[in-house]
Formats: sequence, structure tokens, C-alpha cells
Amino acid sequence: MGRHDWTNSLYKFTFLLAVSLASLVRSAQISIGNRLPLWTWECINDKCVPTKPVLDGRMQSLVTCNMLCSSIQLWPKPTGSVSLSTVAVPCRSDLFQLKILQVPSTAVYGYLQDSFNLFKDDLRRMEPSVRGYEDWRSIVIRLVVNGSADPRMRVGTDESYRLSLKPLAGTGNYLSVDIAARTFCGARHALETLVQMIWLDPYAGSLLILEAAMVEDRPRFSYRGLLLDTARNFFPVSEILRLVDGMGMNKLNTLHWHMTDSKSFPMRFAVMPQLAEYGSYGPGAVYTPDDVRAVVRHARLRGIRVLIEIDAPAHVGRAWSFGPKENLGDLAFCYDEDNWASTCREPPCGQLNPENDEVFAILEQLYSDIIQMTGVTDLFHIGGDDISESCWSQNLENRAAVAEVWAKYTNEVLRRLKVVNQNSMPNLTIMWVSHQSERIKTDLKEFVPYLGLQIRGGGWSSGGVEGVRSIYSREDAWDLNDGLGDWWENARPSYNSWQEMYDHRPWGTSGSKNVEGGEATIWSMRLGPELEARVWPRAAAVAERLWADRPEGATRPVHARLDVQRTRMMARGVQATPVWSMWCTHHPYTCV
Ligand SMILES: *[C@@H]1O[C@H](CO)[C@@H](O)[C@H](O)[C@H]1NC(C)=O
Ligand SMILES: *[C@@H]1O[C@H](CO)[C@@H](O)[C@H](O)[C@H]1NC(C)=O
Repeated sequence: MGRHDWTNSLYKFTFLLAVSLASLVRSAQISIGNRLPLWTWECINDKCVPTKPVLDGRMQSLVTCNMLCSSIQLWPKPTGSVSLSTVAVPCRSDLFQLKILQVPSTAVYGYLQDSFNLFKDDLRRMEPSVRGYEDWRSIVIRLVVNGSADPRMRVGTDESYRLSLKPLAGTGNYLSVDIAARTFCGARHALETLVQMIWLDPYAGSLLILEAAMVEDRPRFSYRGLLLDTARNFFPVSEILRLVDGMGMNKLNTLHWHMTDSKSFPMRFAVMPQLAEYGSYGPGAVYTPDDVRAVVRHARLRGIRVLIEIDAPAHVGRAWSFGPKENLGDLAFCYDEDNWASTCREPPCGQLNPENDEVFAILEQLYSDIIQMTGVTDLFHIGGDDISESCWSQNLENRAAVAEVWAKYTNEVLRRLKVVNQNSMPNLTIMWVSHQSERIKTDLKEFVPYLGLQIRGGGWSSGGVEGVRSIYSREDAWDLNDGLGDWWENARPSYNSWQEMYDHRPWGTSGSKNVEGGEATIWSMRLGPELEARVWPRAAAVAERLWADRPEGATRPVHARLDVQRTRMMARGVQATPVWSMWCTHHPYTCV
């Protein structure tokens, strides 16, 4: 930028931020009584330090100091080159304009418009109702998307973007934002980064934006997920949407919806409503296809795909008990087991009957419906965890070894999946790692290039299978557990702190060959109103690990940056647990 612009902006900057205490008191935005409870933050040696202001002295709020002082405050941290101005100028949600200069399709055009509206909604949410300034900048966002015509997050979608923000030459009060991306998803990530450069300054009573910035960014891993279990306890759609909002803020891209389990089957599939009739917790605890489509739409606009998992062949329950009544034979076994401990990992038990062809016919219809509803044709999850040998061996006519039964079952499931997906295997079909996983390469040979193993961790399940793609979600690191232990036993409670989650690099320092990415998981046996607070900001830590995979662990600057991100999420309407006490927030870099 030209010398003139810079000087000009420095002048304006001084004008803006020299909010004197006296003027604050006059404008009555802050009631201070007859004492002075306020602090001003000064950037000293790259740290924001609170000091007592003097009357008529300069006032700078903590958030503004954090944004302008030293380190990059973006989360997840960009992986390419970044430079951010240390100058802020006032802005307003209604003075942003979008100019779409180039798009590969009308679909992408529409998504960009919608995404820009979400961007403005975000600003409005932060914006004060009383505005304290008049020196607003007008901001023109110029967007170029020159790659994929498909707005969906796909396997292999190029999520990179380049963002350049600067004063528009020759104008006193215009800024331009140039965004270039290959896909809609890349462009929406850029808007997400831009939102992070805008904040409410409580002293100035205005939104501020960095005056100049340059960011080049692309994720390290292509699969960045969050699993929500809606079977153990039910969550209304509104809560799922808020979870998706938080995911978007952290550039996670896959909502793994662990929809059904042996506990409940809360989805009314049009093709097979009996499953919800027999398996849901009752009215008010059932999702409809419209609900799913609402989540899918909400997620897509945030660069997120919805991956629905109907867990099978284990982890099925009463939902599948209607077979005999409807002349379909036994669809499942063991769901009425009192002595559950020998048959499954957690009550109630239940396992599909792989000798009954009706089971496959039903799964095929469910898979078809899932693909229709989500529009995800290149990614699928077939479940596959915790198969009980004793349940099958007690109930099957053919008492073959469980591994053989598993192989036959899984082959048939994959074959049917391919059929309903227009005779094409989804690029990545995920199953949970299990005792049987080693047999993938021999027993599921033709499917190997399309398979992915989700690694849960702990003993036998902590590693993948050579030559098979993997997604990491080790329970001992990336499970958003509550530290209460399992409800059915006196287990030793554990709790994964955000620091542990951040430090965790399951692919090790050497190779990450065949690693598609990873996922934070939240199981809902003891989860209710505190959903968001349990997830955030810990899942944000996983999000940065997966986006940037920086060599550093949870160091001091990471604490400070995550704290800023947590504050930002709260400002945008997402509940997140504090990283530390407010004192530490007020004294960054002193607490760790
Ligand atoms: C898209 O634009 C980038 C520069 O922003 C360029 O490197 C790339 O080749 C372009 N791709 C296509 C398909 O035009
Ligand atoms: C899956 O998609 C990726 C990225 O588009 C591609 O490189 C790979 O060849 C695909 N794998 C299969 C088995 O089609």
C-alpha cells in the first residue's frame, strides 16, 4: 500500500483509539461511579499488559490490544504466509458489499451469496445497538472461485484460499478484500478468517476491523470431524445446528452423526418407519427426513458435510425387534439379554442377524435414503465396532468363526452400498477398527482402495492396518469425555484436557501416509444441556491440530490464542468453557 494511505490510516487509527477516559464517561457507555474501575491494555514487548488509565489518557480495550499486539490471533492458525496490520478501523455490518467476480457455476454463486449473508449475521450479532463512531469504512469483498462447480465438501475438495485486505487506493474510507479460492468451501473459509479479523471494541462501542491483512491458507488434513451421538441421549435439531455453527468457526468439515445405537433409533426413515416406532425414546425424540435436510443445508453453507452412521451389525437394539411380527424373521439377536456383560460392551446389547437377507434389504434402503438426504456420495460410514462373538455363536445356524461371518456380512453390506450409490463405491467408506480389521486385506480385497478405518485407541484398536486409509479418533486423546467414568461401573474416571487434545499427533512425527485426518468424539451417555460447553473449546484444539498440525504443543501463545478464540465464539453465540480464570484472560502470558 502507498505511503500516503498508510500515514492517513495511522492518523485515523490514532483518532479512533485515543478514546479518552473522559469521553467514555461522557458518552455514558461505561458507568464507573465515582471511582475508576477500568483498565487499559498496552502492548508491551508483544504482550498485552493492563494498566490503570489516567484521566484523559488513552484507553485501549483488551480485545483490541489482543488483536493488534504481536502474534497472529487467528484460529486455526493459517498454514501459509500471514501478515496482519497493527492498525484497526471502524466498520459496520451494513457497509460490507459482495462482488462475485468469477464463479464456476450458479450453484456456487448462490452458496456464496448465502454465505455472505451468514457473515453479515455474525457481524450483526456482535454489533452494538448504540454506535459510538461515524468514521466508518465501507468494505468491498471481491470474490473469485475458479475451480469446482460443486459447492459441496467432497473427498479431495481443495479448501485453500488467499485473502488480501487493504485500503482501496485513492479513497479515504474504502477497504477492499480480495478472496481467491478454487471451491466454495475455500471461499467460505476465507470469510470465516475475515470474521476473525473483526471484533467489537467495548470502549469504542464499535466493530473494528484490521486495516490490512494478507493470508494464504490450506488445511493439512482433508478429514476434520466431530462425532455426535444422538442415540444414548437425544438432542433437538436446534442444538445440532449450533454445534455446526461452532464447527464452522473452527473450520471442521465433517459432522459424523452417530445417529443410532442399541439404546435408541431416533430416525424416522420413510422406507422403514418401524425402526423408529420400535426403537426411539418416543414422540419428541425422533428426527424426520426434513430435520436431516435442515442440518445438511445448514452444514453445507459452512463447508461441512454430514456423515450419518447407522451403527451395525453390533450396537443395534429393540428397533430391529419387529421382524417376527411382520414375517421378516429375526432381524437381530440378543437385544433382550439381561446378562449383558458377556454379550456386549455396554447395555443393552443387540446384533444383526447376518443369515437373514431381509437385514440387508433394510440396510440397503436406509443407505439409499441417507445418500439422498445428505447428498454425500463419496463418503460413507458403516459402523462395524464391538462385534460380539458370543451373540452370534449362540444364535446363528452356521456356527462358523465370527471372523468369517463378519467378512461375509461386511462384503454384502459394501456390495449393497455400491448398488444404491449408482453402482459406484463411495471414495471413502469408513468402518470402526475392530478385532477383525486385520482381515480387511484378505477378506474384503476388492474394496480395500475405498475403505477407511476409524481408529479408536486403547490396545488392539490403537493402530491402523498397513495400506488402509485411516481416520484417528483415539478415545484416550480425542474423546470429549466428562471425566465421570462409565455409568455402569466404578471405572477410573479420565478427562482429556484441551492441552492433551492439542498435543496429540497420532500419526507420529514421521509419516502420515494414508491418514485422511481425525475426529473428536462426543458420546452422550451423560450428556444433556451442557453439550456445547463440553465440546468447546476442546474440539477447537483438535480442529487446529487437524488444520495446521503445527509442531508446537499447547504452549503459552497457544493458550492465549485459544482464549481469544473462545471469547470470539461466545460473542458469536456459542457457549464454550473458559480456558482459565478471567484473571488470566486479563493478563495474557502470565498464567502458563
Ligand atoms: C485459479 O486461480 C489461481 C490463482 O488464484 C491459479 O493459480 C489457478 O491456476 C486457477 N485455476 C484455474 C482452473 O483457472
Ligand atoms: C479418492 O479421492 C481422491 C481425491 O479425489 C483420489 O485421489 C483417489 O484416487 C480416490 N480414491 C479412489 C479409490 O477412488
